[in-house]
Amino acid sequence: MISPFNVVILAAGRGTRMMSDLPKVLHPLAGRPMLAHLLDTARSLDPLQICVVYGYGGEQVPQAIGGTDITWVLQAEQHGTGHAVQQVLPYLAGSGVTLILYGDVPLTTADTMRALTAVAVQDKLALLTVNMDDPSGYGRIVRDACGKVLAIVEHKDADAQTRTITEVNTGLMALPTHRLAGWLSRLSNDNAQGEYYLTDIIAMAVADGVAVQTCQPAHHREILGVNSKAQLAQLERLHQHEVANRLMMQGVTLLDPARLDVRGSLHCGRDVMIDVGCVFEGRVELGNNVSVGAHCVLQNVRIGAGTQIAAFSHLVDATVGTDNHIGPFTRLRPGTVLAADVHVGNFVEIKNSQVDDGSKINHLSYVGDSTVGKQVNIGAGTITCNYDGANKHRTVIEDNAFIGSDTQLVAPVTVGKGATIGAGSTITRDAPAGELTLSRSKQLTITGWQRPVKKSKG
Ligand code: UD1
Ligand code: CA
Repeated sequence: MISPFNVVILAAGRGTRMMSDLPKVLHPLAGRPMLAHLLDTARSLDPLQICVVYGYGGEQVPQAIGGTDITWVLQAEQHGTGHAVQQVLPYLAGSGVTLILYGDVPLTTADTMRALTAVAVQDKLALLTVNMDDPSGYGRIVRDACGKVLAIVEHKDADAQTRTITEVNTGLMALPTHRLAGWLSRLSNDNAQGEYYLTDIIAMAVADGVAVQTCQPAHHREILGVNSKAQLAQLERLHQHEVANRLMMQGVTLLDPARLDVRGSLHCGRDVMIDVGCVFEGRVELGNNVSVGAHCVLQNVRIGAGTQIAAFSHLVDATVGTDNHIGPFTRLRPGTVLAADVHVGNFVEIKNSQVDDGSKINHLSYVGDSTVGKQVNIGAGTITCNYDGANKHRTVIEDNAFIGSDTQLVAPVTVGKGATIGAGSTITRDAPAGELTLSRSKQLTITGWQRPVKKSKG
């Protein structure tokens, strides 16, 4: 990589059209502040330093982002992009190149950033430009008859002729750092917006004999800024589409790539199938041949090879082994660890529990703070009563135990190896291995009993 090389991210703007109290760059894209995405990309270039200019929203921005490698530079009042870069000057290493990015343009790729800096190391000014069908609002790239860049003219300062230019400034640029101080000191705010325009340095570079070279991004999304919730949603889709394409290239089957949301990192083995409407958050790993049914939410989970997760399941901070059958409508909460061949069915909630090989919890159960052995069968409607109102206690169910339906296991309690619990029992003391234990009132029949009949009126 080119060194030394500074990254400056302008992020002081207010974002009025977001209609929000949250500073614009903190609005989430794929579950994380848009500024965090840009920082990830910038870091991947291994720059000497990253300076972020913040202002609107005050300390909220540095606090939300953190990052000990970032130099935070306050621009208390926003007097324009040139003014923003002026605030950074004292922090910049004088030699090498400075790359200027916008905090509200989150999808710029490392390749594009590299291309800009590669131009600037040749003592040139690199500008990222695009052609737009509707260039209104943007700074126009003014060239001479030979195509040489002369200046950028902001839309509000442009005459009718200049406004017909369709090549616009994306705002992203790279330049030799040692030139910056001189140019910035000559900026004035004598323009339509009364701001110090960073874009005025282009004409200064030309006057100083510094060549201005333009680069174009490989993808249009790289230059899209977020000014409104509608644009944020548009970028979210573009980003998700890109994630979906990457997954499909790795061989993942997505039944509809337009209906996938990855808010974190999703790592897939071979022949993984994902149905529509699934949300993946944090770090999610899916082993070979895993299938995820429609409308599942998986957050920080590891799923072993061959496991099938049926529709509408919600899994958080859990580890699922190989060849499990999960769902539909299963909820796995933090601390759940399922071994191999486990079946967890509809309306079953498991929390902070280990379930060993071959066990089945198929219907309508709550298993919390429990250790469940191998080949255990937990009948429909079984509840571990783990909480006494003050403390939580563990339930231990040993290998091959059979828990009859509608049982309450009042913790702390142990069900021994191979024990059977009769349906409808409330188990408050340990159930010995190999025996049938039940607590149930005796069934009785009252022969000849008559149902009351309705009195006839009048
Ligand atoms: C800027 C460019 C314009 C370009 C357009 C692309 C200038 C003068 N104009 O215009 O040529 O076509 O971007 O979107 O540079 N910011 C600060 N402090 C400030 C002002 C802005 O940090 O005082 C930050 C904003 O948070 C934002 C970025 O700089 O991330 C751009 O600011 P914005 O007001 O959107 O610039 P435009 O007027 O749209
Ligand atoms: Ca803008």
